[in-house]
Amino acid sequence: MNSPLHHAFASRGTSPADAVALVASGMRVFVHGASATPTPLLEALAARDDLDGVRLYHLHTAGAAPWTAPDIASRIRSVSLFTGSALREPVADGRADFIPVFLSDIPALFLSGTIPLDVAFVQVSPPDRHGYCSLGTSVDCARAAVDSARFVVAEVNRQMPRTHGNTALAFDRIDAFIVTDRPLAEHALSQETDVEARIGEQIAALVEDRSTLQVGIGAIPDAVLTRLKGKHELGVHTEMFSDRLVELVESGAVTNRFKAVHPGRIVTSFVTGTRKLFDFVNDNPLVEFHACDRTNDTALISRNPRVVAINAALQVDLSGQVCADSIGHRIYSGIGGQMDFIRGAARSRGGKPIIALPATAKGGTISRIVAELSPGAGVVTTRGHVHWVVTEFGAVNLHGLSLRERADALTSIAHPDFRAELRREARHSAR
Ligand code: COA
Repeated sequence: MNSPLHHAFASRGTSPADAVALVASGMRVFVHGASATPTPLLEALAARDDLDGVRLYHLHTAGAAPWTAPDIASRIRSVSLFTGSALREPVADGRADFIPVFLSDIPALFLSGTIPLDVAFVQVSPPDRHGYCSLGTSVDCARAAVDSARFVVAEVNRQMPRTHGNTALAFDRIDAFIVTDRPLAEHALSQETDVEARIGEQIAALVEDRSTLQVGIGAIPDAVLTRLKGKHELGVHTEMFSDRLVELVESGAVTNRFKAVHPGRIVTSFVTGTRKLFDFVNDNPLVEFHACDRTNDTALISRNPRVVAINAALQVDLSGQVCADSIGHRIYSGIGGQMDFIRGAARSRGGKPIIALPATAKGGTISRIVAELSPGAGVVTTRGHVHWVVTEFGAVNLHGLSLRERADALTSIAHPDFRAELRREARHSAR
C-alpha cells in the first residue's frame, strides 16, 4: 500500500453523505446486490430529504431496506429485478416495484439504454497495484451497470475479496468513494430438514460423473451438493453458489476437466454465504466471475456436456407449469436464471434440467403440486421447457409425456394425502 495510487486511495475517501451528493432528483441509480450491497451509501441516500423521483434498480439486497419506509419511498422508489426478503412487503404494499426479467437479459437493459443508469452504487475491493478494484462477490449485472452508468459511486471495503474473471473496475472510473473495513453481509447455512434430505438424495442419484453443475438458490440445491462428494470429475458453470460448493471442491469431486467452456475453472456470476466462502473466492484463480449475460447465456451453457441444472420452485401444476417467483399474486423472488439454465441443460448433450420442490407447504396443509396454479402465480419455467420434477416422493421426467401422462406422473410424486384429490381434479382439467 505504498504506491502513489494507494496514497491517493487512502487520502481521497469521503464521507457517505458527500459520496451520494452527486445523486440528483429524477436519477436512476443501480445498487450492487447480495453480499456486495453498499449499505452505508444507501443509508446516506435515504437520509437525504431533498430528493424526488429517484429510482433504485437492484437484485436482492442484503439486510434491511431503510429506503422503503413509507415517508422515504415517496421520494426514492425501489425497483427489484429480483426480490429479496426485505423488499417483499414493500412490493406487496405498492411502495416498491418489481420487473419480471431473465437474469441473462438484465445487462442489455442497462447497456442498450432501455433503463438508462445515471449512477452505479457498488461495493468493491481496494485498488491493486495496477490500479484496478474488483467487483468482488457480485459481478452479475453490476458489470453492465458500471460500464454504462454516467457516474460510479463506490464503497471501497478492505474486506471485499479481490475476485478473478471479468471483475476489474479501474479506480479512475470511480467518481466518489468511501473507504470501509467491515465484514460482508453473510448468509448462514440452514439446518437441513428431512424433506430436503430426501429430495437431495433423489437428485444426487440423477447426477452422473463428469456432469457440469448449476445450482440455484436455497436449501434444496444445498442438500444436493452435500450428497455429491462420491462423484467424479464434476464441473461447475453456475449463476451463483454458496458454502456447500466449497465443501464439494474440498472433497475432490470437482475438477472441471470435462467442461467445454472455461475448462479447469469454476464459472459463476455471484456468491452468497459465509466468511469461509468469501475467503475461498479471494484471489482464487480457480473461480472465474463473469457477467450474467455470459454465465446465463443459454447457448454457452448448452456447450458444456451433461449439464445438470438444479432449481427450486414454489408450485407446479399437473401440466408441468412451474411457478417460482410468486405465491399467488405476492411477489416472492424473481425469474432469475431458472429458465436460462433449464433450457441450457435441456440442450446440452446428456443434460438434465431439474425442478425440485417439497411436495407440500404450510406445515403439510397444502399441496405444492396442484391441478391449477393459484391466481396470480408467475410461470417461470413453462410446460414446454420443463423436464425433471423432483419431490421427496420421487423424480419424474415430463419431457415427451402427454398432458394425461404428466398428470399421472406428477400425482405419483405428490404427498399421498393429496393424490386422490389431484386424480379427481385432473379428470376435469384439459388432458
Ligand atoms: N403456497 C403457499 N406458500 C408456499 C408455497 C405455496 N405453494 N410454496 C412455498 N410456500 C412458502 C413456504 O412454506 C415458505 O414459507 P416459510 O418461509 O414461512 O417456511 C416460503 O414460501 C418459501 O418456500 P421455500 O420452498 O422455502 O423457498 P426457497 O427459499 O427454497 O426458494 C424459490 C424457492 C423458488 C423461491 C427460489 O428458488 C427462487 O427464487 N427461484 C427462482 C429463481 C431461480 O430459480 N433462479 C435460479 C438460478 S439462482
